[in-house]
Amino acid sequence: MKQLSRCHNIGDLRRRARKMLPAPMFHYIDGGSDDEWTLRRNTAAFDDYELQPGYLVDIGTIDLKTDVLGIELDLPFFLSPTGMSRLFHHEKEYAAARAAAHYGTLYTLSAIATTSIEDIAAVPGLRGMFQIYILRDRELTREFVQRCRASGYHALCLTVDTPLAGNRERDLVTGMTMPPRFGLKSFWSFATHPYWAMNLALHPDFRLANVAHRVDALDGRVMGLVEYVNSQFDRTVTWRDAEWLAQQWDGPFVIKGLQTVADAKRAADIGAAGIMVSNHGGRQLDAVSATIDCIPAIADAVGDRLDVICDGGIRRGTHIIKALAMGAKACSIGRPYLYGLAAGGQAGVERALYLLKAELERSLALLGCRRIDELNRSHVSTRIR
Ligand code: FNR
Ligand code: LAC
Repeated sequence: MKQLSRCHNIGDLRRRARKMLPAPMFHYIDGGSDDEWTLRRNTAAFDDYELQPGYLVDIGTIDLKTDVLGIELDLPFFLSPTGMSRLFHHEKEYAAARAAAHYGTLYTLSAIATTSIEDIAAVPGLRGMFQIYILRDRELTREFVQRCRASGYHALCLTVDTPLAGNRERDLVTGMTMPPRFGLKSFWSFATHPYWAMNLALHPDFRLANVAHRVDALDGRVMGLVEYVNSQFDRTVTWRDAEWLAQQWDGPFVIKGLQTVADAKRAADIGAAGIMVSNHGGRQLDAVSATIDCIPAIADAVGDRLDVICDGGIRRGTHIIKALAMGAKACSIGRPYLYGLAAGGQAGVERALYLLKAELERSLALLGCRRIDELNRSHVSTRIR
């Protein structure tokens, strides 16, 4: 744990994760598609905006509480869905869900998680959202909805930017497979990460816990993630399916992966309570805009009809402040908490949340704001070069 307390920002947690993980696992988290242009832009674009502080205001108490998707969170950011957490730490999805509950924020469980819908729902104090990929096996989608309702998930989220797998070239180089395979390529990497390899032997629970009973794709043989996604995900999904899914669910319905005003309006038209403006962390279509650059126009178009959530590239509290000032209702994070997970399980995820929370509180105070809802566009200017 001493190692974790030496991590003073998300970049430090990333370096720690790199030390802890065999190369195929680290690069699966860290990488993006094609040239990774969008991956880099997602974070770099925040630098195009500058904060405009106001001084000599009373900032005696700072309050980060935020209303989003009909509930009050203690933080203005939450945890995005990420598949297969078991690859990164044996505490897997439990670690992230427990840390989110501890910090009073929302945890999103991925359809391709390695822990079941019910087991995560049982985490004390959890506020959960379940993320669906519509698979070719439509019965499974219906089953997801029923199980989420029965186990008390607050919201349902449909990811739409992954009808097929993005081109992750780092995974081709490292030979990333699920479950991990001790191939020649990765042997050295596993051998030099004994802690991870030992836990692999002690907890061999590499199952896509919510789909394995229907989709036997991963049973009995090892396949790459790309092969899995491309063989099981349904490429024929349209807005009609999204509307159908929205009608099946009585709570807040969220669409994740939209980037344009036109699509945001369609989401509002089918009754979505929120959209996660996202490019999948630069892992799907490369060369699309950084998420933050999409926020103002989308917030102007639909911000009064649904909650606009900024997902992608956030590594600092100031990034969250910029997104909220530019019109997002909340933010969400993927890699920052996965670096924490790899660095130290639940304690590592908590470290990631602690650091972003502390940065947020400090920066909000320095900006001259006491509450999240005081943030507005006057707090940000576009950088002039
Ligand atoms: C993801 N993401 C993702 N999204 C989703 O809807 N379902 C999923 O199963 C996954 N799986 C996944 C695995 C890993 C390892 C990563 C890094 C990401 C995308 C995720 O929800 C989110 O959109 C991005 O991670 C946001 O960008 P940052 O915060 O990582 O920069
Ligand atoms: C990923 C997919 C599986 O980003 O969502 O790896």
